[in-house]
Amino acid sequence: MTEQVAAIVGTGLVGRAWAIAFARAGWEVRLWDPVAAAPAAALATIDGLLADLAAQDMLNGADAAAVRGRMASAATLAEALAGAAWAQENAPEDLAIKRALWRELDALAGPSTILASSTSAIVPSRFTEGLAGRARCLTCHPINPPYLIPAVELVPSPWTAADTMARAEAVARGLGQAPIVMKRELDGFVMNRMQGALLEEAFRLVAGGYCTTEDIDTGLKDGLALRWSFMGPFETIDLNAPGGVRDYAQRYQQIYERLFPSMQRRVDWSGPVIDRIEQERRARLPAEDLPERHRWRDRRLMALLRHKRNAAREIGS
Ligand SMILES: NC(=O)c1ccc[n+]([C@@H]2O[C@H](COP(=O)([O-])OP(=O)(O)OC[C@H]3O[C@@H](n4cnc5c(N)ncnc54)[C@H](O)[C@@H]3O)[C@@H](O)[C@H]2O)c1
Repeated sequence: MTEQVAAIVGTGLVGRAWAIAFARAGWEVRLWDPVAAAPAAALATIDGLLADLAAQDMLNGADAAAVRGRMASAATLAEALAGAAWAQENAPEDLAIKRALWRELDALAGPSTILASSTSAIVPSRFTEGLAGRARCLTCHPINPPYLIPAVELVPSPWTAADTMARAEAVARGLGQAPIVMKRELDGFVMNRMQGALLEEAFRLVAGGYCTTEDIDTGLKDGLALRWSFMGPFETIDLNAPGGVRDYAQRYQQIYERLFPSMQRRVDWSGPVIDRIEQERRARLPAEDLPERHRWRDRRLMALLRHKRNAAREIGS
């Protein structure tokens, strides 16, 4: 790697979050956005976030001013990319925008710059196919915000070089992320496929009148997700039968098999069920309280991360 310089291309919600993740890990970060005022606005938001992160010990011991000092706006895309080892693209989730932008990225970036997209769901082959440097391109999909949620999906296209994937994994680990290195691309990658399966069942249960939205949330936050937050579903089932995963599959597959046929029917998320879900949610959280609740969520996430870090140290991971 030439130098620890990262170009943040598109400085909205996700771009500015990546800026924090890179700068916190010691990278020099250059922010560029086609909306000229956007990088400065992102930096102003980052100023507020860094104070919170420093107070919660989420900056790896660095102080907020040092992290902020590593970030600067770039006037042009070429300036942002000059000498960058990594470019993280965070443009809107629109294939036409991504295609046009990636042609520019590939033309302007040096040959050893890794080009990564934050795209939530577009497989990388769809915007890198015709590019001369397509072997150094991949998707690096975060869960927002990546400075608080470590898992990221590294997704290769059929032509992404193995060396690109190895370098990307090393960079992600260096940032303190927890990379999921996919072997090949697939719509929805890994996390959104799992989240989609769970959400679809949640919508189906509420649409069928079996339970409330709050019951679903209770089932996760006070039930399943307590274990999942430090083990995941495979380790969970490995520990839920005396003989481990195979024993679990033998004992319990028949229960799930009975359910699956009734889980195939699609639910229209925008149909009548959304009225019920929205009504129940707004009764618990009025719309005007949503912004404050976002801050609450971030504070809870930080507290959970601190707990996970301490528990891993004291109990083991
Ligand atoms: N919001 C999330 O929770 C989330 C999570 C993971 C991934 N993503 C993905 O990250 C990407 C960005 O999402 P976001 O939520 O930050 O959106 P956003 O609307 O907050 O920000 C998008 C930014 O891209 C800029 N932009 C517009 N055209 C551009 C171009 N041609 N080149 C570069 N920048 C351009 C906009 O000015 C804006 O600042 C999307 O692909 C999205 O799917 C979002």
